[in-house]
Parts: sequence; C-alpha cells; structure tokens
Amino acid sequence: MKTEVLPVTEESLRLAADILKAGGLVAFPTETVYGLGADARNDAAVKEIFAVKGRPQDNPLIVHVHKDYDISGLVEASQEYVSAMFAAFTPGPITMVMKSKGAVSPAVSCGLDSVGIRVPQSPAAQAFLRAVDLPIAAPSANRSKHTSPVTAQHVLEDFDGKIPLILDGGRCSGGIESTVVNVMEKVPVVLRAGLVTAEQIAAVAGSVRYAGEKEPVRSPGMKYRHYHPACRTAMFAKGDLASALKLASEERAAGSRVYFLADAEAETLLRAAGESLILSLGKTDEEVACNVYFKLHEAEKVCDLLIAFSMEEKGVMVGVMNRLKKACAPS
Ligand code: TXA
Ligand code: MG
Repeated sequence: MKTEVLPVTEESLRLAADILKAGGLVAFPTETVYGLGADARNDAAVKEIFAVKGRPQDNPLIVHVHKDYDISGLVEASQEYVSAMFAAFTPGPITMVMKSKGAVSPAVSCGLDSVGIRVPQSPAAQAFLRAVDLPIAAPSANRSKHTSPVTAQHVLEDFDGKIPLILDGGRCSGGIESTVVNVMEKVPVVLRAGLVTAEQIAAVAGSVRYAGEKEPVRSPGMKYRHYHPACRTAMFAKGDLASALKLASEERAAGSRVYFLADAEAETLLRAAGESLILSLGKTDEEVACNVYFKLHEAEKVCDLLIAFSMEEKGVMVGVMNRLKKACAPS
C-alpha cells in the first residue's frame, strides 16, 4: 500500500472521509499527538487499528468527535460535575471516560462498559472530525510501545506502507497525550496525567484524585512499557550529574554515541561541565511537554544512549515525567 502524506485541505479531508467511511485508517494531527483513526462504529476498522499498531487487546481506544457532535447517543453522564468539565476543558487536551451506550464497536472499549470521549482543540483536528462527522476511534499513531508521534514524519516512520493516508498538520503544539479522567465516580479520577492538570480539574469539579495502583478502572494502557525510543536510555537525578557524566564518558570510550536530554536547568549544569551533546527540552513546563517526544524521536536518530534527568513532578510535569520515566525504563 502506498502511504500518502497530504496537507490538510478541503480535498485531502474529502479523501480522508472517503477512506474512513469505507472502513480504512487515516492518521491525523491533534494538539497533543497524531492519532490513527477509524470509524468507531465499524468493528473491522477498529480491529485493524489494533493489528496495524501491534496493540494489546485489553487497551481501549479513545473516541474523538468535533465540538458540535452530539455525544448523547454515545455515552451518558452520571455525575453532576461532568457538564462543568465539558464546558471548561473541551475542546482541549482531555479525555473523559463515561458510561457507554453501546453505540460504538465493542472492540473500542475492549470489554469495558465505558468509552473515553475526546474533543480535540487544534483547528486541523476539528476540520478533520467535522469533514468526517463520525465518532473516530484513535490511539496515538505509533507502533505499540514506541514514542508517540508529534509530526507527520514520525507517523510515516512507523506506518509507511501500512496505512493509506497521513494528514500533515505540522508539529503538535501540546506534545504529550491528553489527560484521561474517569468521570463516572463521585470525584473525578485521573487515569493518565496530561496537559490538563489535576489542579485545573479540582478547580472545576470541586475535587480530584489520581488512580491508585490497585484501581478497578485504571487506564489499561498505563501498565505497559511505553514511549520508548529506538536507542538505549538512562535517567539520573540532577543532583547526580557526576554519575551521568561518568556513564557518558565510559560509554563514549566504548564507542557509543551519547546525548543528554535536558531542561534549561540541567543544560546549564551540563554546559558548565563542558558537555555539548545536548537535546534541549526548554525552560517552561509547556515547552518541555511540547519538546519531550520530539526530542526522543531525534535521539533515536543521533545516538546509541540517551541520558535524561528527572524533573520536578507538578502541574503539567506530572504527565511529562510519567512519559519520560516509561521512555527511560529498563527493557
Ligand atoms: O491525546 C490523546 O489522547 C491521543 C490523541 C490521538 O487523541 N490519543 C491517545 O490514545 O493517546 P492512546 O490509545 O495512545 O491512549 C489512550 C489511553 C490509554 O491509556 C487507554 O488505556 C485509556 O486511554 N483509555 C481509553 N479508553 C478507556 C476507558 N474506557 N477506560 C479507561 N481507560 C481508557
Ligand atoms: Mg499511545
């Protein structure tokens, strides 16, 4: 199969809609990461997503809709705070897990009686969903466990020849996946941290908590080793710079290409120590979130070993560190 990469235009959106209506897959940009979409009502198309990604069969998909789509046919809201959350956070980088009405393929939810609903914010994602006007099941458009894609090129690297169309909307501005929240409980439960923070949710819903380790409804996807670039990785505390530099020099002596992944603070320390092979994450939390997957993709092209530093886990950085720890987990 030839994979076309096309800018988002009226013509490419028409083509995307035709492919999806015929049961095919289309990759599309959102403000978080690129998604690999199928008609959520079409069993065979949804199953094809799992096959193409090599995704475990117990990891449910998110359903994406445009901002005027009537979701009352798909899910029901059981808690009072849900409408306030929709008003405050959609369209935006959040997914709300709600009770399913059974209108989408059972393959979407992998046997759960819930569906995650996401109304993405980026103009390209909205234009795509509006052109199709269907509920679109879409995981991140990467091979299972690989680093999530934030450019059309990243998608192409994983799926060239395997899907017919990638809509190219440029680089994603958010850079990590949506916050996944179970909104079926008295208090919203964050299943996957993301760009909408727990603090922001608490301010709207009155309270919030993070899913515990033994939660009955966790985000099944969170249990897998994930987001890993195709190079070796290691992670150190910033206070342990000496160990990181020692590892780098040992590895370089053995012939490995070594780079550091560093926010502005770690970069200053590294440069003071004479280090220059640095992939910069930037200074603010938003910059770091936007850069983290982009730089992991860069790392796998330029180095054999990437050495990262842990960063303080608050606000958006809870989600960033969740991804980075998995990307740097031992295999
Ligand atoms: O930003 C995003 O969320 C991107 C873009 C494309 O929208 N999508 C994305 O999808 O990250 P994926 O499949 O890579 O991650 C979806 C996460 C997984 O951890 C999955 O387990 C969880 O959401 N999830 C989906 N439906 C769920 C449900 N009904 N109950 C609990 N967790 C659910
Ligand atoms: Mg994913």
